[in-house]
Amino acid sequence: MPDLIPFSAALRQRSTSAHSGSESAGFMADLIKGDGTRDDYIALVVQHWFIYKALEQAAERMKSDPVASVFITDRLTRLPALESDLEFLIGPDWRDTVTPLPTTRRYVDRINAVGATWAGGFVAHHYTRYLGDLSGGLFIGRLMSRRFGFETNGIGFYLFGDIADPKAFKDVYREQLDAAPWDDAEKERVIDEVLLAYRFNTELFEDLARAKSDVRVA
Ligand code: HEM
Repeated sequence: MPDLIPFSAALRQRSTSAHSGSESAGFMADLIKGDGTRDDYIALVVQHWFIYKALEQAAERMKSDPVASVFITDRLTRLPALESDLEFLIGPDWRDTVTPLPTTRRYVDRINAVGATWAGGFVAHHYTRYLGDLSGGLFIGRLMSRRFGFETNGIGFYLFGDIADPKAFKDVYREQLDAAPWDDAEKERVIDEVLLAYRFNTELFEDLARAKSDVRVA
């Protein structure tokens, strides 16, 4: 029987409530409302660096996979932008100052595990981060720019210089999701992996909130 709705639409539908959970996590909500500090923003950029290092190393490995490689393009690569942002925000010795939070460690371990062995799992993590970056991410970047006075330095992560039309890019990405040769069981597994990725993102915001209150108490 043909699918009633395209896979990309089912994926979006099934992850809507997980998305709301990530979006409304206190740490993120504070940053959006303008209650977050520059240090809060930097703490988030640091964790992104660990996550994208894993994701983009996995992408290197997955370039030879016939299913995963369709989604991989240098136009999405974020690691160089994150490194320039950290150099600008923290200074040239930033690498000596950064450590992953507990959720980031678990998130990275998961990306490394599926990134080495399972195309669908890799695509789930790729989708959750990059389609988010090309959606709410663009809005968050503009807010951070306004709030902290960043022009390009500091928010390079949110600037996709090689993607002039994010909406058109996302439409093509969704067509590629719909064309992936996955049976129903594999589609379910991919959706579950997306839900797991959302959970890591929500728990990361919880870790960030906790780390912030620990600093206040100390
Ligand atoms: C305050 C934080 C956030 C805001 C304001 C926000 C906002 C949005 C908006 C408006 C869209 C819809 C764009 C469209 O229809 O094309 C979207 C899509 C998306 N967001 Fe977020 N988002 C936030 C956080 C996150 C987080 C933390 C993640 C996960 C890492 C995420 C992942 C996604 C994904 C994967 C999509 C694409 C859904 C799809 O069309 O298949 N978002 N976001």
